[in-house]
Amino acid sequence: MEKALVVSVSGKGGVGKTTLVALLLKALLERDDGRDILVVDADPAANLPDVLGVKVEKTVGMVANELKRKIEKGQLPMGVSKSDLLEAWVYSTLLELENFDMLVMGRTEGEGCYCYVNSILTRILDTLLSNYDLVLMDMEAGLEHLSRRTDKDVDVMVIVTDPSLMGFKTALRIKELAEEVHIEVKKIYIVGNRFPAEMEERLREWASKIGVEAAGVIPNDSLIAEYNLAGRSLLDLPSDSPALSSAREIAKRIGIIS
Ligand SMILES: Nc1ncnc2c1ncn2[C@@H]1O[C@H](COP(=O)(O)OP(=O)(O)OP(=O)(O)O)[C@@H](O)[C@H]1O
Ligand SMILES: [Mg+2]
Repeated sequence: MEKALVVSVSGKGGVGKTTLVALLLKALLERDDGRDILVVDADPAANLPDVLGVKVEKTVGMVANELKRKIEKGQLPMGVSKSDLLEAWVYSTLLELENFDMLVMGRTEGEGCYCYVNSILTRILDTLLSNYDLVLMDMEAGLEHLSRRTDKDVDVMVIVTDPSLMGFKTALRIKELAEEVHIEVKKIYIVGNRFPAEMEERLREWASKIGVEAAGVIPNDSLIAEYNLAGRSLLDLPSDSPALSSAREIAKRIGIIS
């Protein structure tokens, strides 16, 4: 089985992770090259569906919690494989849209020992991911996803920062923590969001200081705010949107479009 190329987008809270995922997705869909694309919202706050104009009713967290509850209450009939049951439920949350699929992780309950459910969930997700050519993941803000190893299969890690010291420091911590917990990322890039073009050099300086590659900057784009306020999908952005043009260049640099 071919392995999907898994790309994650992480960074400090509010720097533009979800926006970048939407823009990269748009750049990929413009190519219309027949690749099977999965978008994963791995942020428990799950706002990628809104940004993409997708309606979500069930999340992976919801069905995992349901299984945990049923196990605890002894409500599962004998002879039913919990793993098969959860697998069917997880696949039922998968949204098959026109040009891509989407999986929303949502929240799982942290109480008690759910190691069993979590371990079968991991196996199910590994198989699910391998059905795609490319997987784009919108991560939770900060560092928590690294210790929970949500990133364990990531090939390309894209860290977003705004032009702030806090943003760069979080980027550095993400990179360090990825190494500490032995996540085998092949490549780590940094992207500057809401960066004036003339500040791209600052991004490069930081990138080399922390030992990652600069993939480019995205300008502040008032259309993004307008679409957000109007509840419009960023996938409908006009092709001459400045942010989208930058995202296309970034997509090339990180090797997801040629
Ligand atoms: N380049 C941009 N131009 C204009 N507005 C932007 C740009 N990037 C992001 N925004 C706006 O900034 C806000 C935060 O962006 P976004 O939700 O993508 O950040 P995030 O890192 O995913 O946040 P969180 O940590 O909460 O998940 C949103 O309202 C978004 O529309
Ligand atoms: Mg987000």
